[in-house]
Amino acid sequence: MPEKYTPGYSSNAMNFMAKRTLDSHGAFFKPYLRPGMNLLDCGCGPGTIALGLAKAIAPGMLTGIDREISQIRIAAESSFSQGVSNTNFLEGNIYSLPFPDNSFDAIFSHALFEHLQEPVQALGELRRILKPGGIVGLRSPDWGGCLITPTIPEMDKAITYYKWLHEQNNGNPYVGRELRALLRETGFSNIKVWASYECYKPLSAIAEYLGERIKASAKEDQAVEKGWTDERSLTAMSNGLREWSQHPDGFFAQAWCEVVGYKN
Ligand SMILES: C[S@@+](CC[C@H](N)C(=O)[O-])C[C@H]1O[C@@H](n2cnc3c(N)ncnc32)[C@H](O)[C@@H]1O
Repeated sequence: MPEKYTPGYSSNAMNFMAKRTLDSHGAFFKPYLRPGMNLLDCGCGPGTIALGLAKAIAPGMLTGIDREISQIRIAAESSFSQGVSNTNFLEGNIYSLPFPDNSFDAIFSHALFEHLQEPVQALGELRRILKPGGIVGLRSPDWGGCLITPTIPEMDKAITYYKWLHEQNNGNPYVGRELRALLRETGFSNIKVWASYECYKPLSAIAEYLGERIKASAKEDQAVEKGWTDERSLTAMSNGLREWSQHPDGFFAQAWCEVVGYKN
């Protein structure tokens, strides 16, 4: 079965992603950025991190690539409206990138590898287009590290169901802890790793995003037809998320894993 991008492109999902910046989500990679670099952001989505990358490497060129044309349009429009001129946004797939060998000084990829069925193949492609001595930086969540309180049964079920959905779509919600191994397996060296937590604020943003995606799985993933669940459970999980998000003591910290590695 082919991989499927679990979050989808609803306005809820996009608003959720579009709050990210280089400072909030890509800080681990900042020490490796130099003015004049030729940098690729792979799976750039709406481009909010990409624009921060572009500013950090100016007058170098930031290329953003995403397999979804709607994301490329949003990123290109934001770049234009914010007067960031050293960018080039293109539609493309990480498994087959439209660049010659040894094209980039650095490659960044945020929140993509958890959605890939063939991460080693994808990294091989990144390695091909990286110059010798170039650096790759990846950051992905690990859903095994979520800290969530209070415990509400329907909220627990919702998180379990979302992770399971991710796996049915041939993604890996636990890829964060594997990033180091993946880089090593693909021949990268001098690998460094970190981990950090993101505390979701406001809780309604994560709750709305997950709740909507879970409910949409009836149509998007034919979850009821396939006998994975029923409409009542989907509604209960979605309502459970909303109830949880309004709790005065609600807390959700997401674990993120970060790696860099070099091509010799
Ligand atoms: C979770 S979003 C992350 C967007 C952005 N990097 C961020 O963190 O805000 C993942 C993005 O990867 C893109 N994507 C998924 N599979 C892809 C593939 N095989 N090749 C290129 N892009 C892909 C999706 O379209 C989506 O825009």
